[in-house]
Amino acid sequence: MRLQGKTALITGAARGIGRAFAAAYAAEGAQVWIADINLPAARAAAAEIGGQAHAVELDVSQQESIDKAMAEVSATGGLDILVNNAALFDMAPIVEISRASYDRLFSINVAGTLFMMQAVAKAMIAQGRGGKIINMASQAGRRGEALVGVYCATKAAVISLTQSAGLDLIKHGINVNAIAPGVVDGEHWDHVDSLFARYEGRAPGEKKRLVGEAVPFGRMGTAADLTGMAIFLASPEADYVVAQCYGVDGGNWMA
Ligand SMILES: NC(=O)c1ccc[n+]([C@@H]2O[C@H](COP(=O)([O-])OP(=O)(O)OC[C@H]3O[C@@H](n4cnc5c(N)ncnc54)[C@H](O)[C@@H]3O)[C@@H](O)[C@H]2O)c1
Repeated sequence: MRLQGKTALITGAARGIGRAFAAAYAAEGAQVWIADINLPAARAAAAEIGGQAHAVELDVSQQESIDKAMAEVSATGGLDILVNNAALFDMAPIVEISRASYDRLFSINVAGTLFMMQAVAKAMIAQGRGGKIINMASQAGRRGEALVGVYCATKAAVISLTQSAGLDLIKHGINVNAIAPGVVDGEHWDHVDSLFARYEGRAPGEKKRLVGEAVPFGRMGTAADLTGMAIFLASPEADYVVAQCYGVDGGNWMA
């Protein structure tokens, strides 16, 4: 039980990778807040995980929503771990990118990550017992992709914010690090696959098959492939790990 006595908040945890992290943290003894814009789905995930999981409504792109969720969480106790996991994906050729898509992705993926870090870091500093912040980056943040310019830029910004916040907050005993997954099967990639089908004229499922075959490990990742790193970075074993971004991608990218 590596997270016994700890309380974690995971954004976008109603499904996918965040949901798997919530279950893994609960299994390691933590109390877990599943904070998601989709409250019914967050409640369903919390009910499935059991008594250590709690749901709270959160839109990371809205400061009032962050403040309200933080007030609800703080009323029941402190916070030791934040996972900034909520994000949106979109794609288009450079000449077709819309302002609306750009604004939406940057407000959730980048501003959401920054202002959740800020809100939780303030609470952790007031508590005076340090903490762990884990930001979900991506291999997409390591380099550009022809059709994925905006999403790649948001994830590059997440890596940069992780470095700056990591350097700024370690004096308070708050470790900020990031995880860069590769291609992880699930509803997110079903959506990505449908967009590639549209822009590259592919059959449904074809892009998924191709990206899976291209992974040196030999297949797409699963949310379960990421939970070990998420537990490690949230645990005291990672106390000396500061401002890093770890690839968990089957060998897709060598940092
Ligand atoms: N799946 C992959 O292949 C992959 C690869 C690299 C990085 N990632 C990153 O990992 C993280 C999780 O990915 P996933 O595949 O589980 O995504 P997902 O799309 O399955 O889940 C995202 C969750 O975020 C929630 N959400 C959306 N907007 C929100 C908002 N404004 N406020 C709060 N919650 C919101 C959704 O309701 C959903 O529950 C993301 O940061 C993603 O960019 C995923």
